[in-house]
Amino acid sequence: MEELNKIQAAVKHIESATDGFKPSYGIILGTGLGALTHDIDLNVSIDYQDIPHFPTSTVESHSGKLLFGFIYDKPVVVMQGRFHYYEGYSMQQVTFPVRVMKLLGVKSLFVSNAAGGLVEPFQISDLMIIRDHINLFPENPLRGPNLDELGDRFTDMSKPYDLSLVEKAREIADEHDIRAHEGIYVGVQGPNLETPAEYEYLRRMGAHAVGMSTIPENIVARHMGMPVFAISVITDICYGEIEPVNVPRIIAAAQKAEPGMKLIIEKLIASLP
Ligand code: HPA
Repeated sequence: MEELNKIQAAVKHIESATDGFKPSYGIILGTGLGALTHDIDLNVSIDYQDIPHFPTSTVESHSGKLLFGFIYDKPVVVMQGRFHYYEGYSMQQVTFPVRVMKLLGVKSLFVSNAAGGLVEPFQISDLMIIRDHINLFPENPLRGPNLDELGDRFTDMSKPYDLSLVEKAREIADEHDIRAHEGIYVGVQGPNLETPAEYEYLRRMGAHAVGMSTIPENIVARHMGMPVFAISVITDICYGEIEPVNVPRIIAAAQKAEPGMKLIIEKLIASLP
């Protein structure tokens, strides 16, 4: 089945399961940032496994649902549980939900992730508003026949992240005394963390934070002309003496930053039409 037909079949299913709910904004929740779901005035939730052609989650900490409802009276769709390339999904699978969101009527995409902080003065549980990225993934979701109905063959990447949303996020963070940097995110395949030499290489390349997600979704969103806002929570420090990875500590670091991240995303959405 052609990719576009699969997307349309998923959209059709969702439209009938939600009674034609039209979300204006899409949110992809990353590691440890699940509490935003408590603030949604929930209309309907759909398990990924019930949506035709939708990939299903493998990581236990993610439950795998699309949530439809309102944040500050704005209609949203929230991906609770995202797909990472390192889990073995194809780039088409990783980005399938973003295309579905677009066809459901989503105007802008909001993404959160966990990332390693490559530069001083980044500290654990700081936030970084992403201004730009460097794509080091070994594959591209747009490779193959172009879906002309969705966008052009050669996607413009001159404005990968919406700078008016970045500015608004900056104001919200300052107003609420939330430690938020701005910077460049470099995306890698994972799932291993980086060696000290690799962290040095990523830093010299000009990146401020490193993670294993977000870029595929961003590329597919930009292909369709969708503005993107993305924000990282810094869960580990990748300069100086590199400490061995500690997953519970990463999750705890993400959870500590969650109220600030949630506030920024919610106030941003509230500020939109
Ligand atoms: N490297 C890659 N991905 C990550 C890291 C890291 O140090 N921390 C959280 N996600």
